Amino acid sequence: MKKYILALDQGTTSSRAILFDHQGQICGSAAQEFPQHFPHPGWVEHDPKDIWHSQLAVARKVLADHHVDAHQILAIGIANQRETSVAWDRKTGEPIAPAIVWQDRRTADVCDALRAEGKAKKITDISGLELDAYFSATKLKWLLDHVPGARDKAVRGELAFGTVDSWLVYKLTGQHVTDVSNAARTMLFNIHLMRWDVDLLHLFDIPETVLPQIVSSSEEVGVTHHSLFGAAIPVAGIAGDQQAATFGQACHKPGMVKNTYGTGCFMLMHLGRHPVASHNRLLTTVGWRVDGETDYLLEGSVFMGGATVQWLRDGLGIIQSSAEVEALAASVPDSDGVFMVPAFVGLGAPHWDSYARGALFGLSRGSTRAHIARAALEAIAYQSAELMTAMQKDAAMPLIEVRADGGAARNDLLMQFQADLLGVPVVRPKVTETTALGAAYLAGLAVGFWDTQEEIAAQWTCERRFEPAMADGRRAELLAKWSRAVERSKAWEA
Ligand code: G3P
Repeated sequence: MKKYILALDQGTTSSRAILFDHQGQICGSAAQEFPQHFPHPGWVEHDPKDIWHSQLAVARKVLADHHVDAHQILAIGIANQRETSVAWDRKTGEPIAPAIVWQDRRTADVCDALRAEGKAKKITDISGLELDAYFSATKLKWLLDHVPGARDKAVRGELAFGTVDSWLVYKLTGQHVTDVSNAARTMLFNIHLMRWDVDLLHLFDIPETVLPQIVSSSEEVGVTHHSLFGAAIPVAGIAGDQQAATFGQACHKPGMVKNTYGTGCFMLMHLGRHPVASHNRLLTTVGWRVDGETDYLLEGSVFMGGATVQWLRDGLGIIQSSAEVEALAASVPDSDGVFMVPAFVGLGAPHWDSYARGALFGLSRGSTRAHIARAALEAIAYQSAELMTAMQKDAAMPLIEVRADGGAARNDLLMQFQADLLGVPVVRPKVTETTALGAAYLAGLAVGFWDTQEEIAAQWTCERRFEPAMADGRRAELLAKWSRAVERSKAWEA
């Protein structure tokens, strides 16, 4: 009987389940979008039960659709939207509130207060992160301070906190754990000592009783409840989705870079076995821990990538499906001077402005929805270009190419414009579901489905290479205009 690894990719807007074989090829997949809640401007919530039910449904569906028995699954690997914070009652297993999503800005004022107290540098030194509402610490603090009875429950040891990996593992196996790559996104984790940090817990007023146990990214942490799939399947790989994608892109050596075009855009560069601090407002983060060795990454995080296209569909209503955006954008030769800054939830790296808001510039009487669609796509590339500039300044060596993945990486127009703006080739692999693939590799390594990282890296295959074709002068002109637009969108809410 053929054996597989089942990857669960729990993203911000959809839950996916993908079956991988020993060659790292996709043998089946299922995906389901789930509701997003925006109760106030700047707030973004998920129902933890929607996260779980959609994830379980697609896992069951992919097995049923492809007539795969649960006994053929050697292990489950999990990749998840990071930072999103869930709290549940340890006795009942019930969430005590909606999950606060990574894009949520409600705790920007908590960060401002800590910054005013001069705490920002200490927080960055320990966690590798910028003091920002993006990360879990202030979200968990908000839950403890605002959900009636939460803090008392926490003090009594009756409350569990977790990022989405913890929540899923808890539902799958009953264990309360998180892997090092997810822990590194909470702003409560010491990336040098690889443990929860007492000073940070004190700063954010978080009782240690709520925290999950920290595990490696590639080890068996429990087996699934028999009732879920009819078999006890080991859960053996866990990583935050961006770290998983970096692993799946086989960026295992210092200097290798990938960019994922998902809900947001996340460019990560492998740093090696030691954390290196950024001087250009990027993040230093844990990549993964495998066989007792920790790999570190440098990260640039952009909050609105593919979600900008989703807004064209659901907010503005100028396209019916996300796939339509490429044809609409390609129906005009350029954006005709229209620039969109998609700062709908503030700006991430390298600006870190919680109070920036979305803006359209350069509209004229001749502007059409096609120009707006094109400006939206181009904005994804401009934001990634800014990350690359910052990364290039931090990196000790010149960056030679960027490996692209995620849903929007299938968009040729975007990939070409991206290569033009970066001035280096953008390389698209055959398997663009590298987030799920990375989770599968981490799980498969733990159970001996694959033996070494070299074996995995050898499976990576290029599908298409986009070479930069834009003149230097034109690139400089466009980037300068983009910078002007970004500056004007800043501090709008302040
Ligand atoms: O840090 C947030 C990130 O993990 C979300 O990823 O794939 O849902 O855009 P994605």
